[in-house]
Amino acid sequence: MATHKLLLLAGDGIGPEVMAEVKHVIGFLDKQGIASFAIEEDLVGGSAYDAHGVAISDAAMERAKAADAILLGAVGGPKWANVPYEARPEAGLLRLRKDLGLFANLRPALCYPALADASSLKREVVEGLDILIVRELTGGVYFGEPKTILDLGNGQRRAIDTQVYDTYEIDRIGRVAFELARTRRNKVTSSEKHNVMRSGVLWKETITALHAKDYKDVELEHQLADSLAMQLVRWPKQFDVIVTDNLFGDILSDIASMLTGSLGMLPSASLGALDEATGKRPAMYEPVHGSAPDIAGRGIANPIAMIGSLGMALRYSFGLGEVADKIEEAIAAVLASGKRTGDIRTPGGPVIGTADMGAAIVEELGKLIA
Ligand code: NAD
Ligand code: IPM
Ligand code: MN
Repeated sequence: MATHKLLLLAGDGIGPEVMAEVKHVIGFLDKQGIASFAIEEDLVGGSAYDAHGVAISDAAMERAKAADAILLGAVGGPKWANVPYEARPEAGLLRLRKDLGLFANLRPALCYPALADASSLKREVVEGLDILIVRELTGGVYFGEPKTILDLGNGQRRAIDTQVYDTYEIDRIGRVAFELARTRRNKVTSSEKHNVMRSGVLWKETITALHAKDYKDVELEHQLADSLAMQLVRWPKQFDVIVTDNLFGDILSDIASMLTGSLGMLPSASLGALDEATGKRPAMYEPVHGSAPDIAGRGIANPIAMIGSLGMALRYSFGLGEVADKIEEAIAAVLASGKRTGDIRTPGGPVIGTADMGAAIVEELGKLIA
């Protein structure tokens, strides 16, 4: 059996708490002989800053490049509010994405049947929901230059962020979206703001041309990003795959998370280009949520987004889609049994902590796999 090299970067806040539960799932899969992992661990974010004065060390970057896949918990928190901008925790995450070329961020939002009442929206709006946001992750306003604050010398300062997209960046993320749509309900909604942004014009033109050239069999529609945000809460089941830029994708995926019940439910995969020579694709898997400083250290965070991210690693990096299915089934069964962390609690219902939720999922997985 192949041994998969997995680098765990737990990070800050609830990162290490939810990562501890993933380790139990990994340990279980290893023990059962379902998959074999060689695990390494390192620091990222505020914890790396505290140890090394940078948000990710060069040594950790080397480990990340050598790994078959990375699992990342979360970075950031108020403790590092005043560190130099270049060394802020989030810079570690952004360096990983950029230096590994992880341009395609897949953020599925799935409403588990048992959680249809945990959403802030009505049951009929979210029940059976299964959408996939494909977020461009290495371009746009996150990385465009110039990116600076200028002192204008008259008591004023000027902040500049630059949205930049080249055709090839839009084309390759578009391909990912169309290919994935073919494996789902065959529909892509592309989103930008071509009415105010030149990058939106190029985005729409490029996606339209790509569709006409290679993906005529897939249904394509365009929605302006502001209107799409509204449609996501009005009637989200109209969507299958949504493809959008780095910033819109960040915001729209947080909106989508509440359709599923909680930000604590959403996993994600960040994928790079396939290396034809090695057959490998750089990949990092992380929850959509952050370090949740408001609940960190209390053992009450929901580990499902993190465990779901391991599921995505099994599916996209290790060719173990059927094991990923079992993990999803185990999560569904645990939720169906009424077990809830605080973020998805049924009003007045009992609540369990991070460790008990992790243990319940491992136990259920045992029943499904044994
Ligand atoms: P957040 O996602 O950390 O938290 C938003 C809200 O959701 C909080 O009320 C939190 O308690 C809740 N929440 C999030 N995950 C949860 C979970 N698993 N279980 C239960 N509740 C959960 O967003 P924020 O508070 O705006 O950001 C905090 C820090 O995290 C910031 O420094 C931000 O930059 C960083 N951040 C990091 C990542 C990442 O590492 N991938 C993602 C988003 C935000
Ligand atoms: C996310 C986060 C990150 C982003 C931050 C922490 C840099 O919000 O992964 O969604 O904005 O991409
Ligand atoms: Mn975000």
